[in-house]
Amino acid sequence: MKPIIIITGAGKGIGKSIALDFAKAASQKNDFKPVLILASRTASDLESVADKCHAYGAASDIIQTDIADIAQIDRLVTTTLKRYGSIDCLVNNAGVGRFKAIGEMTEEDFDYTMGTNLKGTFFLTQKVFAIMEKQRSGHIFFITSIAAETAFKSSSLYSMSKFGQKGLVETLRLYAKSCNVRITNVMPGAVYTPMWGEEIPDSMKNVMMMPEDISAPVVQAFLTASRTTVEELVIRPVCGDINE
Ligand SMILES: NC(=O)c1ccc[n+]([C@@H]2O[C@H](COP(=O)([O-])OP(=O)(O)OC[C@H]3O[C@@H](n4cnc5c(N)ncnc54)[C@H](OP(=O)(O)O)[C@@H]3O)[C@@H](O)[C@H]2O)c1
Repeated sequence: MKPIIIITGAGKGIGKSIALDFAKAASQKNDFKPVLILASRTASDLESVADKCHAYGAASDIIQTDIADIAQIDRLVTTTLKRYGSIDCLVNNAGVGRFKAIGEMTEEDFDYTMGTNLKGTFFLTQKVFAIMEKQRSGHIFFITSIAAETAFKSSSLYSMSKFGQKGLVETLRLYAKSCNVRITNVMPGAVYTPMWGEEIPDSMKNVMMMPEDISAPVVQAFLTASRTTVEELVIRPVCGDINE
C-alpha cells in the first residue's frame, strides 16, 4: 500500500504527531509506504517534521498552505495530484481556537476561527472528496473535539466551529457510504499542545493527554481492514473534561 496522505496542521501538536506516527508505521510495516503531504502556514515547522519523517525512512513532501485561503487549498490539491496522481487520505487537523468570555469575542476572532475551522475545512474536504468519489476509495479524518458536542464558557466561537465541523462530518457520511470512502470523526478532550499557549498551570498539564494519545488511534483506524470504517473516536483524559 502506497497511500498519498495529506495532513493539515502537520507542523505542530496533534498533526505533527499524526505525521510522525504514520512515518513510524511505515518503518515497521513492509507493505505500508505512504507519502505524507505536510501542510500548514509555517514552512520551518514543516521542514522539521519532514526531517523527522525522513529519519524513519518515510517519504514526505511539504506544501505550505493556509487553508483559510481557497486559492491555497486549490494549490494544495492540484499540486498533490500533479506530483502523485491520487489522494488516498485527508487528515483535516488544522484548527485554531481563541478562548475568552463571549462578550470579549470580536469580529476578527469570528472571521479567524471560522476561516480555518469551517471555511478551510469545508472547501478542502469538498475538493478532496470529489477526487475520492471518482476513485471510489479514500479516508477522511476530522479532528474535531469534544467541544463539537459539549459547551464550555470560554469556547463560544471554537465550539460553534466544532459543532459545525460535526455537521459536515455527518452530511459527508451520507455521500461517502455509496462510494466506498471512509469518514472518521476524532473527538479529543484536552491535549497538551501549543494551542493552549505557554502558560498552562502544572495542575492542568499533569492531567492533559499527549498528542500521541490521539495520533496512535488515528493511524490504527487508517490501517484497519479496508472493509471496515472506524466512524468515531472519542478520547478523553481519564479524569474527564478539564474545562468543566
Ligand atoms: N489541543 C487540544 O486540546 C485539542 C482538543 C481537541 C481537538 N483539538 C483539535 O485538534 C486540531 C489540532 O490542534 P492542536 O492542539 O494540535 O493545535 P496546535 O498545536 O495549535 O497546532 C495546530 C496546527 O494547525 C496549523 N494551522 C492552524 N491554522 C491553519 C491554517 N489556516 N492553515 C493551515 N494550517 C493551520 C498550525 O500551523 P501554522 O500556525 O503554522 O499554520 C499547526 O501546525 C485542531 O483542529 C484542534 O481544534 C485540539
